[in-house]
Amino acid sequence: MRNFKKKYGEYALVTGATSGIGKAFAYQLAQKGLNLVLVARRQQLLDEITKDIMKRFNVKVLALPLDLTSPDALHQLDVFTRDLSIGLLIPNAGFELHGHFLNNNLAEHTKMMQLNMVVPLQMAHLFGSRMARQKRGGILFISSTFGLQSVPYFANYAATKAYILALGQALREEMRPYKVDVTVLAPGLTRTAMVDHMQGVDMGKMPVKEMTPEQVAKTGLHALCRNSLVIPGARNKMFDIMGKYTTPRYMLAKMFGMLVKRAMDKKLVEYNP
Ligand SMILES: NC(=O)c1ccc[n+]([C@@H]2O[C@H](COP(=O)([O-])OP(=O)(O)OC[C@H]3O[C@@H](n4cnc5c(N)ncnc54)[C@H](OP(=O)(O)O)[C@@H]3O)[C@@H](O)[C@H]2O)c1
Repeated sequence: MRNFKKKYGEYALVTGATSGIGKAFAYQLAQKGLNLVLVARRQQLLDEITKDIMKRFNVKVLALPLDLTSPDALHQLDVFTRDLSIGLLIPNAGFELHGHFLNNNLAEHTKMMQLNMVVPLQMAHLFGSRMARQKRGGILFISSTFGLQSVPYFANYAATKAYILALGQALREEMRPYKVDVTVLAPGLTRTAMVDHMQGVDMGKMPVKEMTPEQVAKTGLHALCRNSLVIPGARNKMFDIMGKYTTPRYMLAKMFGMLVKRAMDKKLVEYNP
């Protein structure tokens, strides 16, 4: 889109910008000429990325080191950005839990729901209301192909991503009259730290093709204003279509359960009371 900067400038806010898909968003948005607010916990990494982007592109970059699961995170975001015109929001930060539902403790489950669901909701409310007043803006939510159906042994993670999908697609309709574009990006397996650190899972045993964070981010930015949902990668799209039109939901959950179980260490899928 040639007028990307005009449409979504002057600042884009990206969370989870120190790694993976969020970092790829930061560089690609800078290349499009948008100024950036970058959020993540690791200050040193954030500072390095900020310096590098400013050196390579003619944009302003503001770094906000912040744990988004802390109780005052939304307030801090509000105060930090009060005098900035945020035209694009990408609440990308997230993490996953896998293994038998009962093997992960409730505090971790709840923290994941906070980061993957509550924080994007809160940010969409805060920045969406500013955008609606300006009658201009965009929000790109990050779901996952795991959010397109239930996935045993990633049960709560997949459910957080299903929530984002449902929220984003509904908000697209509600925000349209206010000229705020809302799109949901649902990546499949993407080579990032999240996947590298996924212990006890051999993703090579899953029938998926890995993509790079750069490919995924590019697909997401291209889809903004065009699509309500975008799934990067031909194979991921094909699985979605096959799943949606040929298989009942309960069968999909069964199939995914079998596939994941095959790829996961036996110890992880078993719960020993
Ligand atoms: N990789 C995949 O296969 C895949 C597939 C589908 C969807 N996704 C989704 O894509 C998004 C990005 O994931 P990724 O694969 O790029 O993972 P990643 O490389 O692990 O990056 C996660 C980012 O989130 C930040 N983060 C984590 N916890 C945070 C917190 N409490 N407060 C602030 N920032 C926090 C991390 O930075 P700090 O550690 O510096 O805080 C990091 O920058 C996630 O929502 C994920 O669910 C990933």
